[in-house]
Amino acid sequence: MKVADEPRTLAPPRRRTAHVTAVERLGAYHLVRALDSGGPQDPQPGQFYMLSTDERWGGGADERPYLPRAFSHARAREGELSFLFEVVGPGTARLAELRAGEGLALVGPLGLGWRPPREGTRPVLVGGGIGTAPLLCWQDELGPEATLLLGFRSAAHAEAASLFVGRPEVATDDGSAGRQALVTDLLREQLDADPVATVFACGPPVMLEAVRLLCAEFAVPAQLALESGMACGFGACFGCVVPTKEGYIRLCVDGPVLDGERLESALLGGAGH
Ligand SMILES: Cc1cc2nc3c(=O)[nH]c(=O)nc-3n(C[C@H](O)[C@H](O)[C@H](O)COP(=O)(O)OP(=O)(O)OC[C@H]3O[C@@H](n4cnc5c(N)ncnc54)[C@H](O)[C@@H]3O)c2cc1C
Ligand code: FES
Repeated sequence: MKVADEPRTLAPPRRRTAHVTAVERLGAYHLVRALDSGGPQDPQPGQFYMLSTDERWGGGADERPYLPRAFSHARAREGELSFLFEVVGPGTARLAELRAGEGLALVGPLGLGWRPPREGTRPVLVGGGIGTAPLLCWQDELGPEATLLLGFRSAAHAEAASLFVGRPEVATDDGSAGRQALVTDLLREQLDADPVATVFACGPPVMLEAVRLLCAEFAVPAQLALESGMACGFGACFGCVVPTKEGYIRLCVDGPVLDGERLESALLGGAGH
């Protein structure tokens, strides 16, 4: 199993170009695949890349997108990286316009990803919306026996569940796919039935905070993949600092995956969309 065995990333902050092999639409999301033959071939699940494009990055209204944007890789197989995203602004809009054969500029892999489950516990993976992305490669590592709980706004978003191996438990806000419930309702049922678990969660801040509180209630270790606005991705700008019980940390080098018990709250100012 590939895990973070270095305290911090050793990736050189040098931009390189990966070659786009496919751009697919998956319900409400887009999936970009790119061959990164010049980069490390073993990015850890839960790490991330700073993405931009060789051409037409910037130059839109107010010159946006000016800075690259952070994305967790959804999968990494034989040098091919996949990124899953929803169009929410100028960066994701430009990435969605990419076509096979074009260049995807990237820096990474960056940050500290998921660590193995606590010994003797079963892994429970909890994803909310686009937060399902870094759980895909983590399921690839852990194997299909890991419990998967996924929550989405609607059936169009829930199409991302088809990327996973096996049959994840799915909840939607409107009941258009799976159960009409919150993904944290599914987590409470799982922990009620068997609390000998380690929880791995990624999703919007409100969901992560609910997961953090639930895991504290059941005394279950939780690893939370957090977001904050990132300008550089490798520790230089201090734009991504978040408060922890030990003081402020740079999420790009000390995270993005943090133990829930290190946080007073996962409701981080300015994070998520
Ligand atoms: C470590 C990490 C991994 C990520 N992985 C993914 C991924 O796999 N897939 C994915 O779709 N997105 C991911 N994101 C989020 C992605 O980087 C942002 O949504 C990005 O800002 C989108 O760029 P944009 O130009 O399209 O939109 P922007 O113009 O940057 O943002 C659009 C709207 O969303 C708000 N917003 C979005 N993200 C943030 C944020 N992080 N902080 C503050 N406000 C925000 C903005 O205020 C604005 O209203 C990740 C973020 C981090 C930090
Ligand atoms: S994004 Fe620049 S220091 Fe973290």
